[in-house]
Amino acid sequence: MNSKGIKVAIFGGSGYGGSELLRILLFHPNVDLELVTANEHAGKHVGAVHRNLNGLTDLNFAAMPTDISELKEIDVAFFALPHGQAIDLIPKLVDGVKAIDLSGDFRIADPDVFKRYYNLDHAGDIQSDFVYGLTETNREAIKNAQFIANPGCFATATLLALAPIVKSGMLDGKVIVDAKTGSSGSGAKPATNTHHPQRMNSFYAYKPFVHQHRPEIEQHLRSVGTFENDLVFMTHSLPVSRGIFATCYMQTTVNLTNEDALNLYKHFYSESFFVRFADGSPDINWVKNTNFCDIAVHADGKNVVVFSAIDNLVKGAAGQAVQNMNLMFGLDEKTGLVFPGSNP
Ligand SMILES: NC(=O)c1ccc[n+]([C@@H]2O[C@H](COP(=O)([O-])OP(=O)(O)OC[C@H]3O[C@@H](n4cnc5c(N)ncnc54)[C@H](OP(=O)(O)O)[C@@H]3O)[C@@H](O)[C@H]2O)c1
Repeated sequence: MNSKGIKVAIFGGSGYGGSELLRILLFHPNVDLELVTANEHAGKHVGAVHRNLNGLTDLNFAAMPTDISELKEIDVAFFALPHGQAIDLIPKLVDGVKAIDLSGDFRIADPDVFKRYYNLDHAGDIQSDFVYGLTETNREAIKNAQFIANPGCFATATLLALAPIVKSGMLDGKVIVDAKTGSSGSGAKPATNTHHPQRMNSFYAYKPFVHQHRPEIEQHLRSVGTFENDLVFMTHSLPVSRGIFATCYMQTTVNLTNEDALNLYKHFYSESFFVRFADGSPDINWVKNTNFCDIAVHADGKNVVVFSAIDNLVKGAAGQAVQNMNLMFGLDEKTGLVFPGSNP
């Protein structure tokens, strides 16, 4: 078979993030999938575990290699493993192999903050080689990156909603983010609080003031513009499988009309194919299975409300990871990612 170019490994291919990486990368015109690993599912056929891929690939899940430093024929490795694993593995990669980590292991620059939210120590000097992978705000750094800390799903939806106003310098006072996620955000393995009888027809809040995406959001907003504001970040569980919806309340130093606010956002995202604008409210239905983030902006004097919706597994994880890989290899960031959702 002719090589298509970029040799890719996926660590943790049997989970939900891995499933989306496979769905996208199997059809990416520049990618050869060389290795896909699993833990409990090692040895099984990919199409038997991810039945949406049945008949579309001959790949089997391999066990984790005992020594990752022996993996030479790979250009880039995606890590879709539980938190705390990539931090041990990525430093052992052969020099020159790029890595994109979907976990939180390398997202937080301050070791004390990282310890507080993840109960882990930084991997060492390698931490400073990681670039935060929110594509729309960090393109130039991503193009030259060796290692990417791919953003969290809540963080992606929230940051895309807040970045333009922070960059404008008009933000005044406290920001309140009220964000909701579907159950696939908790991964493929069912737990008491995440399985269907518990989540169906149910709605509840969790992790007030202690969600690990809060420091990630604050850290990145400080690099987008001046951000010294209080952030109240609240997360909820929706009775749906996929999707994140964030409602962000804020105030500005000057009066804005709806049109002013919308123009500000449209200008900020003028080069960003994957950010779309919705009338009224976005709807997770229309971003589901896609790499789009749909945003709606409303202003009434100094009060501004921004809604954003993404698919947690695509723009919130695997899709954005591939968008970043594209930039790291000099490709158009849209490559392999232009597909619509479905209606309904
Ligand atoms: N779900 C989301 O919406 C989302 C969004 C953004 C970021 N993330 C992050 O992405 C990462 C993956 O999330 P996910 O939802 O895909 O999780 P998941 O569905 O639980 O999948 C975890 C993957 O890791 C493998 N694995 C588990 N324990 C392992 C071990 N000890 N050694 C080797 N492999 C092991 C699993 O293999 P087996 O199944 O074969 O055991 C599976 O392939 C997490 O860090 C998560 O925080 C998730």
